Amino acid sequence: MEPPRLRNIILIGFMGCGKSTIGRSLASTLGFRFADTDELVAAEARAPITKIFEREGEDGFRRRETATLVALDGTEGQVISTGGGIVTREENAPLLRRLGYIVWLAVGEDEIYRRVSRNRDRPLLHTPNPRKTIHDLMAKRDPLYAAAADMKVKTEGLSISDVAYGIAESARVFFANAAHSGD
Ligand code: S3P
Repeated sequence: MEPPRLRNIILIGFMGCGKSTIGRSLASTLGFRFADTDELVAAEARAPITKIFEREGEDGFRRRETATLVALDGTEGQVISTGGGIVTREENAPLLRRLGYIVWLAVGEDEIYRRVSRNRDRPLLHTPNPRKTIHDLMAKRDPLYAAAADMKVKTEGLSISDVAYGIAESARVFFANAAHSGD
């Protein structure tokens, strides 16, 4: 049997899908704390993400990301925003599930490109053709997000507070059902 889920909400999805913005709003709606795996990795490494990629490569970053999930185990009452590539490491799947209720924020390719082309903080998009990189990464990752998520929310056209409210309500139902799953 699967171990019980901790009372957290985990946001997954592609770079630029709004995990941090929606996560902060959701945390304040619920009175939860907000955590961001990218921020935790950077704090632990005492270096920004771009520097970690430069020094340790993507592999080094992914190891740190997994260690962050392990360190979060046991905590509750948090909305946890994750890096867009968290689903690419197989060993992260059970760690994410154990941590809580997993919500995929889905946004179309064109809108993602519009949002992420505004800044240079994402080393994986430092390529000659970021538009194509986004397309290729999304094609690989969408099935992984789908497999990991308890719920998918298409956020385009919705306000931040509407999305946060919808997730908060669905989380209440999820945790209430989980509490009575032995009935
Ligand atoms: C990554 C996404 C980034 C960050 C790193 C790698 C990815 O986080 O973890 O640059 O592999 O998609 P955001 O999704 O918050 O941009």
